[in-house]
Amino acid sequence: MKRLFNLLPVIVFVLGNGVSGFGSDVVPVSVKEGDLVMFKTGVKTKEQEDIKWYFKDTRIAQISGDLSHSCTDVKCEDGEEKFRDRLKLDPETGSLTITDISNTDSGLYDLKIISSTSSSDRIYNVTVNGSASKQYEMQRKSPNEGESLTLDPGETKNPNDVMTWYFNDTLIAEITRDLGKICADEQCKVRFRDRLKLNNQTGTLTIININITDSGFYKLQIIINNSHFSITSEERVKRFSVFVTAVPDSPESSSAVVGICAAVAVVLLVAVIAGLIFWCSRTNRYRQASQNDNDDNGSPLNMKDTLHP
Ligand SMILES: *[C@@H]1O[C@H](CO)[C@@H](O)[C@H](O)[C@H]1NC(C)=O
Ligand SMILES: *[C@@H]1O[C@H](CO)[C@@H](O)[C@H](O)[C@H]1NC(C)=O
Ligand SMILES: *[C@@H]1O[C@H](CO)[C@@H](O)[C@H](O)[C@H]1NC(C)=O
Ligand SMILES: *[C@@H]1O[C@H](CO)[C@@H](O)[C@H](O)[C@H]1NC(C)=O
Ligand SMILES: *[C@@H]1O[C@H](CO)[C@@H](O)[C@H](O)[C@H]1NC(C)=O
Ligand SMILES: *[C@@H]1O[C@H](CO)[C@@H](O)[C@H](O)[C@H]1NC(C)=O
Repeated sequence: MKRLFNLLPVIVFVLGNGVSGFGSDVVPVSVKEGDLVMFKTGVKTKEQEDIKWYFKDTRIAQISGDLSHSCTDVKCEDGEEKFRDRLKLDPETGSLTITDISNTDSGLYDLKIISSTSSSDRIYNVTVNGSASKQYEMQRKSPNEGESLTLDPGETKNPNDVMTWYFNDTLIAEITRDLGKICADEQCKVRFRDRLKLNNQTGTLTIININITDSGFYKLQIIINNSHFSITSEERVKRFSVFVTAVPDSPESSSAVVGICAAVAVVLLVAVIAGLIFWCSRTNRYRQASQNDNDDNGSPLNMKDTLHP
C-alpha cells in the first residue's frame, strides 16, 4: 500500500505529461515585433531533472536539477548574442520569456524536458508578422468630482484573452475567462472601496463617485493566453489619462446658490420693471396735464386749481 502511494505521483505525472505527448508537438505562435512572448512548460522544475531551451539548435536557456545551473543568455552557449538581456527564465516552471521580439527571432524554439522517468519535447514555431504600431494614443478624460467615469477598451475581448487594468502601474482589476477580479490587494481596496465596477464580458471599467485622488494614468493590457504560451503586445495596450475636476461645494449647496441667485435676479428685474412703469406713467400724466393747461390758458395745473376752487 505504502509503495503504491509512493508510485502515485509518478503515475499521475506520466499520465499528465502523456496528454501533451512524448513526441514533439509543434505549437504555432504568431507575434509582432516589439511583443513579449512567454513559452510555458506546464511543469514544476523541482519534479524535473533538466529543462532545456534551444533556438535553431543552439541552447539558449537551461535549468538543471541543481537550480544553480540555470542560465539565461550567452553564458549557456557561445555565439548566441542576439538574445542578450531579452530572455527570462522562470526558476519555478522553467517557462521562457522573450521580450521585445525582433524580426530575426522567427524560427523554431525547442523545449526539452527530462525527468527521471521520461522526457518530452515541444516545438514552438514562431512567426514574426509585422510590427506593433509604435505610436500609442492616450485618451483624455476630465470628469467632475462625484461623477461616474467609464473606461472602454474599444475592442472586443476574445474568450481566452486576459485583461488587466492598472492605475499608475498598480494592478486594480483582472479578467480571466469571464472571471472578473477587482482589487486583489488591500491598498487598492482602501483607495477605491466599492467604487470600481467591471464588466467581465467587455472589460469595461467604471469608476463611480470619482474622487480627485483618482486622477492619474489608467492602462488596460489585453494578453493572448493559453496553456502553451502568452503574448503581450504593445498594440493591445489602451491608455487613459484622467484628470478629475474639483467641484467647489457639494452639488446640493451649489445648486442652492444658483437658486438664490436666480431668485434675486427675478426680484431685481421685477423691481426695475415696476420702477420703469411707475416712472413712465408719472411722466406721461405730467405731460398730459401740461398739455391740457396749454390748451386752456397757458397757466400750470396747480395754478388753475387754486384760481378756480
Ligand atoms: C512553421 O511555420 C511556417 C509558417 O509560419 C511554416 O511554413 C513551417 O512549415 C512551420 N514549421 C514547422 C516545423 O511546423
Ligand atoms: C499576419 O498578420 C495578418 C494581419 O494582421 C494576418 O491576416 C495574417 O494571417 C498573419 N499571418 C500569420 C502567418 O499569422
Ligand atoms: C460575469 O458576468 C456575467 C454576466 O454579466 C455574470 O452572470 C457572472 O456572474 C459574472 N462572473 C463573474 C465571475 O463576475
Ligand atoms: C474624496 O476623498 C477624500 C479623502 O478620502 C474625502 O474626504 C472626500 O469626501 C472624497 N470626495 C468625494 C466627492 O467623495
Ligand atoms: C498617479 O499619477 C499621477 C501622474 O503622475 C499623479 O499626479 C497622481 O498623484 C498619482 N496618484 C496616485 C494615487 O499615485
Ligand atoms: C492562461 O491560460 C491558462 C490555460 O488556459 C490558465 O490556466 C491560466 O490561468 C491563464 N493565465 C491567466 C493569467 O489568466
